[in-house]
Amino acid sequence: MSPKPISRRRALVLGGLGVAGLAAGAAGWLSIAQTGGGFAPDASGAPLRQPSILDSHGGRLQVELTAASGVRLAGRASAALGFNGTSPGPTLRVRPGDELAVRLTNRLDQPTNLHTHGLRVSPQDDGDNPFRRIDPGAWFDYRYRIPPEHPAGTFWYHPHHHGTVADQLFGGLAGALLVDHGPDLPVTDDRVLLITDTTLDADGRVVAPGPMERMMGRQGTLVLVNGQHQPVIPATPGATQRWRLINGCVSRVLAIRLDGHSLTQVALDGAFLPAPLPRDRVQLAPGNRVDVIVRPTGPGDYRLLTDAVDRGGLRGRRGGEAISEPTTLATMTSAGTPVSAPPLPAALPADIPPAGPVTRSRRTGFQMGMGAGGMRFTIDGRGFDPDRDDQIVRLGATEDWTITNPGPLDHPFHLHIWPFTVLASSDDAAPTGTTQDVVPVPAGGWVRIRIPFDAHPGRTVYHCHNLDHEDLGMMATINVQE
Ligand code: C2O
Ligand code: CU
Ligand code: CU
Repeated sequence: MSPKPISRRRALVLGGLGVAGLAAGAAGWLSIAQTGGGFAPDASGAPLRQPSILDSHGGRLQVELTAASGVRLAGRASAALGFNGTSPGPTLRVRPGDELAVRLTNRLDQPTNLHTHGLRVSPQDDGDNPFRRIDPGAWFDYRYRIPPEHPAGTFWYHPHHHGTVADQLFGGLAGALLVDHGPDLPVTDDRVLLITDTTLDADGRVVAPGPMERMMGRQGTLVLVNGQHQPVIPATPGATQRWRLINGCVSRVLAIRLDGHSLTQVALDGAFLPAPLPRDRVQLAPGNRVDVIVRPTGPGDYRLLTDAVDRGGLRGRRGGEAISEPTTLATMTSAGTPVSAPPLPAALPADIPPAGPVTRSRRTGFQMGMGAGGMRFTIDGRGFDPDRDDQIVRLGATEDWTITNPGPLDHPFHLHIWPFTVLASSDDAAPTGTTQDVVPVPAGGWVRIRIPFDAHPGRTVYHCHNLDHEDLGMMATINVQE
């Protein structure tokens, strides 16, 4: 990349953070993406593999995870990162009431730690504590006590050391975490599809983003499913499968559809919906999970696609529609004698929080603005400070929060530990009534959510799950006190 276009982009940014400046920057980034890389994926079209599953027994799962460089990605050797030599790392499968013990060993050349995204567990001490720092060569024993009433569903784990989260996730450090416990859906296959993106050079090294890419949120040239490039998902006409879609990308929004099929959504962010919901397309902000049931209509090859989604900078010019060709994630190959599967249950065990009285309302907002060193990414005008309490909440409170975003980019809001329901938003998206843990806050808009702080006192964080923004400071602390 020559220095000239960078200074042109900088000039556009400095010239005012207008939509036009961002649009030009975004176009520049697309051309970087097209010329960058040089890594040729291999083994496209191989059957989709599942990461190895580590299952709890007798109420306990004890695992060792080692984060290190050197994994196979897209069918080739690479210097990308993984847990226990693979990217994604192993799938951890536990049940409500279990104890999950993880010894994380850091064989990277920078600090790391572990976050169990979406899990409703204690944020304190050796729990899901994002303030913990594990230096190179060190290890730490995490212990997560999963409450007996924890919903069953799809969660995931990834590093959360402020400043290196985006690099380490882009490098390949992620894995699925399943809480397993009824209802038994009538499916022949239950698959994890952990979607990540990255950019590798010809030698298989992860490519660092430029300043504009960090500002927009980097998007890799390779979009992978379970670390594979465009694998094949075997299927039988009529036989239903459950696909647990996890958006593990640093900042890419996924808008997923399957050629010739509708998808039946059964869960969002680790909690069932009240009833199966047919969808033409499911949209996942970074961090979101959507579980869908797929019933192949007949024999044939059907592409699983993600449409490119405008993340704010181009809105208005293109009306929020797809801004480039869709990307093929995988191909479902349906063959064999058609079978008939039993119907899905009409009602699912949804996670609908009790309608308790709202004890307090507050506002908090994502902000982008010019500072001395360039673009500043803040919450309520302040960059992340792990030692400052930004929100103090009483344990037992139920609060309504309005998350504002006056800027020109969408920001996916994520709160650890306490899931929320979406009440309303400036773009009139229909609330599901059930809990979730990431919600996109539209550019120039707002989202209102309800959060029951009914358990797990302690300090943790909320942030933009465009993880470049989070690493640049768009994160704040919350202290829930007894
Ligand atoms: Cu998926 Cu605070 O993160
Ligand atoms: Cu999280
Ligand atoms: Cu953001």
